[in-house]
Amino acid sequence: MAARGCALSWLPLLQLLLLQLGAGAAGERWGGEGTSPHLQSIFLGRCAEYSSLLSPELRQGKSREWREEHVLSTTQDKNCTAIWEAFKVVLDKDPCSVLPSDYDLFIDLSRHSIPRDKSLFWENNHLLVTSYSDNTRRFMPLCDVLYGRVGDFLSWCRQKNGSGLDYQSCPTSEDCENNPVDSYWKRASMQYSRDSSGVIYVMLNGSEPTGAYPVKGFFADFEIPYFQKDKITRFEIWVMHEIGGPNVESCGEGSVKILEERLASMGFQYSCINDYLPVKLLKCVDHSTHPDCALNSAAASTQREVPSLYAELSTSLIVPLLVAIALGSPM
Ligand SMILES: *[C@@H]1O[C@H](CO)[C@@H](O)[C@H](O)[C@H]1NC(C)=O
Ligand SMILES: *[C@@H]1O[C@H](CO)[C@@H](O)[C@H](O)[C@H]1NC(C)=O
Ligand SMILES: *[C@@H]1O[C@H](CO)[C@@H](O)[C@H](O)[C@H]1NC(C)=O
Repeated sequence: MAARGCALSWLPLLQLLLLQLGAGAAGERWGGEGTSPHLQSIFLGRCAEYSSLLSPELRQGKSREWREEHVLSTTQDKNCTAIWEAFKVVLDKDPCSVLPSDYDLFIDLSRHSIPRDKSLFWENNHLLVTSYSDNTRRFMPLCDVLYGRVGDFLSWCRQKNGSGLDYQSCPTSEDCENNPVDSYWKRASMQYSRDSSGVIYVMLNGSEPTGAYPVKGFFADFEIPYFQKDKITRFEIWVMHEIGGPNVESCGEGSVKILEERLASMGFQYSCINDYLPVKLLKCVDHSTHPDCALNSAAASTQREVPSLYAELSTSLIVPLLVAIALGSPM
């Protein structure tokens, strides 16, 4: 299983490349990336930054709606030192003997409420989820929750034989099931599901050759089973396709159908939308000249309101403008 973060990260790739170019990486034994350099500093820095994201001083700069929306979810003052100490217990354990429950105290200390209707679950959409959620402004996916943020795209494990950290490699799920990173994401995912309420949004990738909904994966195995039925009003699935395709699966097809049937059998209401427009517009920012990003019905309502402006601008200018309007960013 792939690590469940949402930051776009080229660092691991670079590290892998450097490792391979390097001196044959003497002690390398596991299939995964080694402990991230500066793990503790990054963890503590992210924790402090996340707390300040929701602190009263910074919130003054945000819109009134933003503040009202976030008041409920405001992290009560979190003690980042205590959170790190609870987390680092796993760094003393054998790298194949770390269970999700080893993170219980860490989760208890870092956990905070998630605003209703703001949960965003996903598979195979890293880049899109980060940009669309916009650091909790639009949605709060797991990596925008404190306990998901601190470990996002990092790796950590103790040496097999020694007491120090292993910077060469760490076990993946193929090496052993109970490895520190997978157990962390399992525990975090379960908590995120339990604390989610209202409308549950799910972003899937309809261009993924192995299927939009992995029937074995974090969402299937560690999120769906932990939803609190009475807190959930309905599910809304967005199947996003790459601009220009391929359209491997859409709503009602293949693995998406399996997901729809699973939710129905659990008694949940759901709807499914292909290429949900706000997210598609965001994708179109990078493909503004592609015919699939040409303005048609999506632009119609805007067109009526700003006809003169509209006539003067070229398509390549209009797309970013529309995106800004649709997503409500300041111009
Ligand atoms: C934060 O936690 C650390 C470690 O548990 C503790 O020593 C410290 O007193 C705590 N700080 C506050 C402000 O509670
Ligand atoms: C969707 O899946 C395709 C095929 O694996 C991949 O190339 C693309 O980057 C994915 N899209 C996102 C937003 O991650
Ligand atoms: C760990 O210790 C065992 C037993 O002493 C030894 O056989 C093995 O080679 C060691 N592994 C490493 C990576 O040092």
